[in-house]
Amino acid sequence: MSNNYYNKSKKGLFISFEGGEGVGKSTQIELLKTSLTKKKINVLSTREPGGTKEGELIRKFLVSGEINSWDTYSESLLFNALRREHINKIINPSLFKGDIVLCDRFIDSTIVYQGVGGAINQTLLLSLHKNFCYDLYPDITFFLSLDPKVGLDRTLSRNNKTENRFENMGLLYHQKIQDGFKALSDKNNKRFFEINAELSVEKISNQIYDHVISIIKSND
Ligand code: TYD
Repeated sequence: MSNNYYNKSKKGLFISFEGGEGVGKSTQIELLKTSLTKKKINVLSTREPGGTKEGELIRKFLVSGEINSWDTYSESLLFNALRREHINKIINPSLFKGDIVLCDRFIDSTIVYQGVGGAINQTLLLSLHKNFCYDLYPDITFFLSLDPKVGLDRTLSRNNKTENRFENMGLLYHQKIQDGFKALSDKNNKRFFEINAELSVEKISNQIYDHVISIIKSND
């Protein structure tokens, strides 16, 4: 059952970070959180898959194990289940308080990974989002755009070798993911802000910070 009431009554700002593997989302979320906190703005950072105790349990199943361990439809339902818990328990309560919520991945990852990568019909995924996840969309989505070869190379140097089910899906799959995000970002260019993820960490964080501040000012 969809409930747009949630969307309309929130006071905070909901910001998601999207992109393929190894694009540097978590670094940028930490930097933005630090800068906004210095300005005495209440910030909550969270992630998907995960975000709640229950969602973190589901995350373990999704990000580890064999590539084919989940059928893409089952996978989509699991992402919807953890997203619904995340919205109910974490995202909406924070937005109602007026906080800024920074979320590492949200609905656009499902549209691109399960929709473009897994070939699930986009209308079906949008309908699941509407019916199970209140049709909640971020106010701003930063898309960190990167050649998937570069991104996958970066992830190879990470310590965590168990959470690599999606990384293992191969370059062709990850090129589809990058192209899928690019197309989604171009189509929704009011909400999306595309950033070249090959720029320095500092240049990227400045672009993100400036954009967020300009949106906060325009909302005042
Ligand atoms: P994440 O922890 O962001 O991984 P990374 O830091 O390596 O980018 O996400 C784990 C994986 O989950 C990632 O490969 C993308 C995938 N994913 C989906 O396939 N659909 C979704 O809806 C979400 C939120 C993530």
